[in-house]
Formats: sequence, structure tokens, C-alpha cells
Amino acid sequence: MCGIVGYIGTANAKELLLRGLEKLEYRGYDSAGIAVRNEEEIKVFKAKGRIAELRKASESEFDGNVGIGHTRWATHGVPNYENAHPHQSTSGRFTLVHNGVIENYEQLKKEFLSNITFKSDTDTEVIVELIEYFSNEGLTTEDAFNKVLSLLHGSYALGLLDEQDSEKIYVAKNKSPLLVGIGDGFNVIASDAIAMLAVTDTYKELVDNEIVIVKRDEVIIKDQDGQVVERDSYKAEIDASDVEKGTYDHYMLKEIHEQPGVMRNIIQNYQDDNGELKIDKAIIDDVAKADRIYIVACGTSYHAGLVGKEFIEKWAGVPTEVHVASEFVYNMPLLSEKPLFIFISQSGETADSRAVLVEAKRLGHKSLTITNVPGSTLSREADHTLILHAGPEIAVASTKAYTAQIAVLAILSQVVATAHGKDTGVDIIPELGKVTTAITAIVDDAPKMEQIAKDFLETTRNAFFIGRTMDYYVGLEGALKLKEISYIQAEGFAGGELKHGTIALIEEGTPIIALATQEKVNLSIRGNVKEVVARGANPCIISMEGLEHDNDTYVIPVVHEMLSPLVSVVTLQLISYYAALHRGCDVDKPRNLAKSVTVE
Ligand code: F6R
Repeated sequence: MCGIVGYIGTANAKELLLRGLEKLEYRGYDSAGIAVRNEEEIKVFKAKGRIAELRKASESEFDGNVGIGHTRWATHGVPNYENAHPHQSTSGRFTLVHNGVIENYEQLKKEFLSNITFKSDTDTEVIVELIEYFSNEGLTTEDAFNKVLSLLHGSYALGLLDEQDSEKIYVAKNKSPLLVGIGDGFNVIASDAIAMLAVTDTYKELVDNEIVIVKRDEVIIKDQDGQVVERDSYKAEIDASDVEKGTYDHYMLKEIHEQPGVMRNIIQNYQDDNGELKIDKAIIDDVAKADRIYIVACGTSYHAGLVGKEFIEKWAGVPTEVHVASEFVYNMPLLSEKPLFIFISQSGETADSRAVLVEAKRLGHKSLTITNVPGSTLSREADHTLILHAGPEIAVASTKAYTAQIAVLAILSQVVATAHGKDTGVDIIPELGKVTTAITAIVDDAPKMEQIAKDFLETTRNAFFIGRTMDYYVGLEGALKLKEISYIQAEGFAGGELKHGTIALIEEGTPIIALATQEKVNLSIRGNVKEVVARGANPCIISMEGLEHDNDTYVIPVVHEMLSPLVSVVTLQLISYYAALHRGCDVDKPRNLAKSVTVE
């Protein structure tokens, strides 16, 4: 949510910043801006809309060897030129980019800045004006920056330029992600390593409340007490080609097609040389000791958690609750005596989930993060991490991370079942192998999904997804996928629940996408379909081999019933993709959204 880049070196900064922002556009794309400095001055270029607009707006001869950039997901103030970052102080001396939310900005404005005329509606402008305020009081820039940081409540990743010093970018973070990239004769900053992979793969993590001075040939990290901190760098293990679209029209389509490969990666990474499941013993011990598991997540990751609960309860026999993070943090349920928290997060940065993790840690409870991003905030702060090995997910709509999350949860549940001395009767690795083959068959069938999208969703205003048990959870995910990228109002329901109210919405031709992959509810879900068809609905039935009836719309290859979500969801991902494509929607960057939601 909002992306930041910065460069200080000897090359021309403008193009590097623009390319970096293009890679970060998934974090927000309401408006964007860069500040470029040469020996004499700092020039700011900003534009409402995408980086492509910023490119046009920054077409000028002016360039420099230092700069900062920002792509915005609006929180305070509408997306427009004035609210776009970078923001400058009244005198123009200080220029700032910010990712995060300052909760006490109104209060700080009243206390220190009552005589300032603000140009924007953002909380960020308050920070840059405060830096100028304390600098005018006689503090050095570093001290003024430090002083302001001590006053801020909320989340921030900041990059600051001082017009009077062409040798430094001042950097700090609290709760929002920010990395420093190390180069030869230059250094960079970035919200995500992928932004600057073209110039460096060597990064240093930053810790909350540190202040960092980034120079051309040096990075000085200081803790809250001003003591210099030595920090090793690490290599970002991302192949630059992983973050390109390749031959695909959209990242979402590429990522859907990558799912068989992701399953293979997971099988490989969670198996030892003897073909045994491999998970760190400390994780198994902590999960096995828990008397109840609390899965906390948001959106698609929450939907994966619902499926994971079934594995943990049915295979490992541990009672499990699944919670939406943003609710849990304000309305915590009664916890058991020995709870274990599992955070599921593709990005590992979601602020709502992090807020719960902070509280769980405060209460002294153990935690495990399941994430796609090693070194992400949730990964660093939890006791344990399991990695998804799905490769970078760029499309805002999550696809391969969801299937990876379910596969990892299945493996974890198996391992914990074994630790509890339970035989699940499921040999998970060969079963995941079958899943891989089934997903491959479905992505090869993409033209059929395109036809289903045409037949059922081309002109509709709304759509309903129904299922029972595991299929209900997949229906929730299918509805989220469809609504977020096609803007068709879509809802997922438990099949039996429709008649308790929602059936009132069924009209002639309303599409109902029903999932039928579970034997024990196969007849009852089909009964629910009949109820809506009797009221004019247009049914699209997706079933599984062995459970199919005549005239089902699509039949997925047979896999273990508990693992069917890994396969049936791929049909829904593709159907949503084509529905959005045919409506002319921006599939990879749906309106109002951003990937990596780092505000609560
Ligand atoms: C939907 C989607 C979101 C995310 C949610 C949590 O396609 O991607 O619902 O799943 O914002 O994000 P992570 O998993 O990064 O915590």
C-alpha cells in the first residue's frame, strides 16, 4: 500500500526511479511522483493516475543523481495532483515521501503548525512541515528528523531529501516495510526488493524506529539512542524474470498458469531426501503443544485459512478457529490456555494481521506466519515462518498464493497429525501430485473457462456462488475473485443458507455458480441448485469426476475430496479473469485496490 523508492549514486536518477515505481505499482496506483535533485536544486514531478502519467509529466531535460519516488494508494485526501507525493515544506528545503498513516497528524498540526498553509489534505505534509519547523528551531536535519519521528503515532516508511545536502537520503520506518539496497558506488531504498532488482540484489533490512542515512557509498543505521548499528546484508532470492509478464497478457493469467509449478516447488521444499515431510521440529512442537489454533488472516488468505481449519481439525485433531484480522484485533475471542496463532499472509505485511500479532506477542502466545515473502514483517516478528515458495505474486488479485497457502496448511496438518500419533489415511505428497496434474488439465482448458465466462457472466449485474462444506469456502473465494476484478456484484453462500433470505435476489437469468466436489453433500447442493433454477436462475455447475451429473457445466479431474479446493478454485480464477477481460477491466490493477495492505 503505497510504494517508495530512492536512489543516490552517479547515474541519472529519473529513469531508475520511474522503473522502480513501475515495479511497485501493485502497491497503489492512484497517483505518483518523484523528486530528483542535482547539485543545485530539487525538482518534483507528480501526476494523478498511473506511472505512465508520471512518465509524461516528468518528460523534461532536468535530471540528477539523487531522488525519491512514490506511488500512492489514497488514505488521507482524494487521488489528485496536490495529494500526490513527494510533499515539500513551505520553504521548499525538505522533500518527503511516506507510506503509512499518521494517526495524530491533526493534533500535531494544531500544536506546532497553526500558521502553515497546507497545500494538500495528506497526513504526510504535516511530517515534512514539522521537520522544517524543528530545523528552523536550530536542530540539524538528522535531529529534526529524529525529533519528528518521536512525535508520530502510526505507521510510516519515509524517505527525506534536504535541499542543503546533496549527499544524503534520510530514511526511517515504523510498521511499514522499507529496505535499503546496496550497490557499488550507489545505494537505493525500496518498499520491496523487486523495485530495484535491476540495479542490485543485495539488501539490508531496517528495523522499526531506526534512523538511516543513505549516502552514495555508505549506509549508516542508528538505533533510537543514536548508536550506530551494524547489519549484515542479504541477497534477495528473486529472479528478475519472475517479476516480468513474459508472454502472458496479464500477471494474473501468468500466476494462474504457474500453479502447477508452485505445487511442485512446495512438494520439493517440504520433503527431505527420503521423501518424508519436512518441517522444522520447533514448529511441530509448538503446534503440537497448542490446545487450540487461531488462524488470523484477511481476504483471500482468510479463505485459505477456512480450508486449512478443516485439515487441522480433521487430520491433526486440534480445535481451530479462523478469524478476520481486522475484527479479531478489536474483538478478541476468549482464548484457550495454550493457544497458537497462525498468520496467513501472501505479502507478510498486512497491517490488520500484524496488529493481531503484536497483541498475541504482548500476551505471550506463540505464533507462526505462513507467507510468500521471507523477511517480511509478519515473518520476522512471529516465532516461526513457513514459506509458500510461490514466487512473486504481482497481480492484485491473489491466485497462486491461495493454492500455495492451502497446500502448506495441508502439509503442516499432516505433520502435526503424525506428531499426535494420528493416521490420517492420506499420503499427502502423492495426493498433491494428483492435484498438480489436475490443475495442469484445468489451465490447459482455459478456452472452456473463457466460454463459461461468456455464457454466464457477460452481461450480468450480479452472480452468486454456492457450495457446501469445503465447496462453500471455495465459493467465497470465487466470489471475491470475480467481484474484485470484474466489478460484478458477487457473493458466496453456503448452499443451505440461500433459502433463508438471499433467494429473494434470484431473478430470471441470475447466474448461480455451484460447486459440487463433496460426496456427502452432492445431492443436497444439487437440491439447492434446483430451488434457484425454479426461480429463474442460470446454473453453472462445477463438479468433480465421480460425482458429476448429466449437463454439469465443467467437471474437474478427481482428487482427494479434502484437497478439491486446490483444483476447483482454478476454474473460478480463470472464469473471473475472462469475465473481467471481456468487460474491459484492468485485470491486474482493479480500481480502488492495492496489493499489500499496510494500513489498518
Ligand atoms: C484478494 C487479495 C486480498 C488479500 C488480502 C490479504 O485477491 O489478494 O484479499 O488476500 O489483502 O493480503 P495478504 O495475504 O498479503 O495478507
